[in-house]
Order: sequence, then C-alpha cells, then structure tokens
Amino acid sequence: MSDNSWKTAITDIGPGKIAVRGHDITEVMEKMSYAEAVYLILKGELPSKAEAELMNAILVSSIDHGASPPSVLAARTVMSGGNSLNAAMAGGVLVIGDTHGGAIENAARIMQEWAKKSGDATEIAAELVGWLKESKTRMPGFGHRLHKIDPRTAKLFEIADRNGYGGKHIKLCRAIERALEKILGKQLPINVDGAIAAVISDMGFDWRLGKGFFIISRTPGLLAHVYEEMTRERPMRKLGPPPYEYDGPT
Ligand SMILES: CC(C)(COP(=O)(O)OP(=O)(O)OC[C@H]1O[C@@H](n2cnc3c(N)ncnc32)[C@H](O)[C@@H]1OP(=O)(O)O)[C@@H](O)C(=O)NCCC(=O)NCCS
Repeated sequence: MSDNSWKTAITDIGPGKIAVRGHDITEVMEKMSYAEAVYLILKGELPSKAEAELMNAILVSSIDHGASPPSVLAARTVMSGGNSLNAAMAGGVLVIGDTHGGAIENAARIMQEWAKKSGDATEIAAELVGWLKESKTRMPGFGHRLHKIDPRTAKLFEIADRNGYGGKHIKLCRAIERALEKILGKQLPINVDGAIAAVISDMGFDWRLGKGFFIISRTPGLLAHVYEEMTRERPMRKLGPPPYEYDGPT
C-alpha cells in the first residue's frame, strides 16, 4: 500500500463481500433490525438489548411531527417549485438546525460537559441553570410550543427505566427540568431532542453525532411529505400553515 493511502474502519468490501464493522452484511440483514444496524455502524459495536430497544425508540420518535415544522415546509416548498425529489429532501434536511431537531447536538454537548463535574445531579443542574440565567441563554432540549409533556420523552425514559438503563446524563437531564422550574420559574418540559441527547450521551455517543440522529429519524417523514406534495398538490401553490388540515386515518 502506498504512503498516501487512507484508512476506514467502517465497511470492508471485496468481490462478493461486504462486512460492516466486521459483520457480514447478509448476517446483519438476517439478524438485525435497522435500528441495531444503525447502532453498529455508528458505534462500531453491537448494542445490548436495552440499547437496541432505545435506538429503535429514538429512530421512531422523531419520524414526523405534522406539516408545520420548518424542515417539512422547506421540503414541500422545494417540491412545489418544480424540483426533483432529492432536491426537496435536501432542502428539508438543510433546515434542521439548532432550534429544530438539531437541539440534540448542543443539549448533548452541555450534558456531557456538565455531567463530568463533581456533585450530584441536582447540584450540577442548579449551577448550570444559574449560568444559563446569568448569560440569558436557553437550555437546548427543553420547552415545546405544543406539548406540556412531550409524549416521546416520557416513552424514551420509560423504555430506559424498564431496562434498568439510565446513567448520569438521564439523571442530569431530569434534574435540569426541575431546576429550570425552580430557578427560572418556568415549566419547560424535556422535549424529544433533550431526551434523545440524554439517552445517546448515556449510550456513550459523541455529541457531535446529535443532529445525525434526528436526520436519520426524520428522513422517512420528509420523504412522505415530499411524495404527498408531488402527488396530491398543485405545483407552486401558496404554501405554509395556517391553515392546514389533517385528513388521514384517525
Ligand atoms: C422550542 C421553543 C422554541 C418553544 O418556545 P415557545 O414555547 O414558543 O416559547 P418562547 O420562545 O415564546 O419563550 C417563552 C419564554 O420561555 C423561555 N424559554 C423557552 N425555552 C427555553 C429554554 N429551553 N431554556 C430557557 N428558557 C426558555 C424564553 O426565554 C421566554 O422567556 P421570557 O418570556 O422571559 O422572554 C423553545 O422552548 C426553545 O427555544 N427551546 C430550546 C430549543 C429546542 O429545544 N428546540 C427543539 C424543539 S423540539
């Protein structure tokens, strides 16, 4: 091999051979769910039963949230403008930012940095929220326009609890919610981004993968919206809520 060759540790390929992180693709196809394969390719190791269940729940949790999120509006607008499916999908993904879906990244960064501090979760959370108050900064992963209690958060934490899974980041996340109410006097529920951030942090994922989890989860939802726009709506229509109506199955 020449000196300027580069290396990858992800997938080994050769004639008739594809091995993802050392696992033959045909075995992965036979034995693993999509969520388990995502865990394997990102982490480089097989998930435990709890991690497999949690990874599946993460990927399902953010699959769609109706027609109002900015990424959906962007994807439908690009489609409506007479563009290809891939351009519309890319448009949707480009809108995923720090306040929409991408809050996972900053929430996980903060949780991973602050969980290293000494003290119990309540003390660390109080110090963190004090700092947020002073610097007039919002805590990513908390607050929701629609949900007083985000049902996806409750379910993710229920699955973690049921499996006896829950380390310092989930504990800190719950403590931050309590501290936001106590110190800021505001009820800011842990939203799905905050819950995913805590769970992936306990799973040992780097916070820099945060937005990626949301992108993997939301892509099928974006595709469904783009396809619906393509097949059901008139080109270049006036787009954007309000008002829009849901008329799918109850
Ligand atoms: C999601 C979000 C935009 C919803 O906001 P909203 O319900 O419309 O609330 P507003 O933006 O009107 O804010 C209302 C008040 O709560 C505060 N607030 C809202 N979310 C906050 C947070 N995460 N941390 C600290 N304060 C927050 C605002 O500063 C504002 O305070 P003020 O009335 O003293 O000015 C908001 O909670 C937020 O920015 N969260 C952080 C980003 C995030 O998690 N995004 C993912 C969403 S799923």
